[in-house]
Amino acid sequence: MILAIESSCDDSSVAIMKASDFSLVHYEKISQEKEHAKYGGVVPELAARLHTAALPAVILRAKEHFKALKAIAVTNEPGLSVSLLPGIVAAKALAAALNLPLISVNHLVGHIYSLFLSEQIKLPLGVLLVSGGHTMILDISETGVISVLGATSDDSFGESFDKSAKMLGLGYPGGPQIQNLALKGDDRAYDFSLPLKGTKRLEYSFSGLKNQVRLACLELENSRIPSDNSKIPSENSRIPSQQKANIAASFERVACLHIIDRLKLAFSSQKWARFGVVGGASANLRLRGMLESLCASYDCELLFAPLEYCSDNAAMIARAAVSKYHNKDFCENLEMHPRSSLENLKII
Ligand code: KG4
Ligand code: ZN
Repeated sequence: MILAIESSCDDSSVAIMKASDFSLVHYEKISQEKEHAKYGGVVPELAARLHTAALPAVILRAKEHFKALKAIAVTNEPGLSVSLLPGIVAAKALAAALNLPLISVNHLVGHIYSLFLSEQIKLPLGVLLVSGGHTMILDISETGVISVLGATSDDSFGESFDKSAKMLGLGYPGGPQIQNLALKGDDRAYDFSLPLKGTKRLEYSFSGLKNQVRLACLELENSRIPSDNSKIPSENSRIPSQQKANIAASFERVACLHIIDRLKLAFSSQKWARFGVVGGASANLRLRGMLESLCASYDCELLFAPLEYCSDNAAMIARAAVSKYHNKDFCENLEMHPRSSLENLKII
């Protein structure tokens, strides 16, 4: 069995997986969402303190399996440095105490492996990675080599939901909040323009769309300024709830359309028979529906990770680690790399 630790952002999670059949024998995740919600986003200092408080207890609750462990795995890149560190320190201490080798796992590779928690690995594969920190179109070759075909040049897909939700005065994380509110809105009420429309650039950009949301909020706030021009409150109680729902729906429609619009470019040059979608924002139902239509039109099999393992979790890290364990890919001198990407990495 391999024990894996994930703490790259705001979730403290531990999983234990059997190396022989990839079955998950233990899993726990403590999310810090509630604690960060009042600030409208992840506060690194708070994340570090909460990981340091949670991780020892989460690890100890897996104690009954310690005797069967063959390696300790941990996410060492990319992520918030102050979040990665408590996980790495815990993994190193545990490995030293139990005299076990260490396995380092790239968080983004972990997200790709979330596709293979309940499925066999089938390659080659196209992948869309949509999370709070990343938005990428990937090609994974028959031998597992990962190529980044396109990525965002500014905000990520998930981040644009978080920031739009904040402007609308909704809670954190913004993805589920926008998705729920959008159900009550008219998605054509605002004619937000499609980013990079008509260009052939295989990249994403969400900052312009975010700005259109900001301007729509501002216009509604201004139209409700009291006649004496007194100060506009910063929270959005001044925007009527139906207008908020309309902005949420119109934003979500264009954000998802942008994902699909750029993917069409990728599909026209790559002949993928399989396409996987991973990352926390892959839970978005509108995006899922649009991806289903896209893949059907290219006669391509569409794979999703189980909903529970779309967002950050140690199960996907354990799954990636088991493949590394079988390849005897251990890490003598495990270091943290907060800003690494996927270039030149391999799965299996
Ligand atoms: O993968 P993840 O848990 O963390 C990172 O590695 O970043 O992704 C979290 C992101 C957040 O930005 C959150 O708002 C977004 O995923 N998200 C969604 C939905 N559920 C979560 N975005 C859009 N629609 C959703 N239903
Ligand atoms: Zn993630």
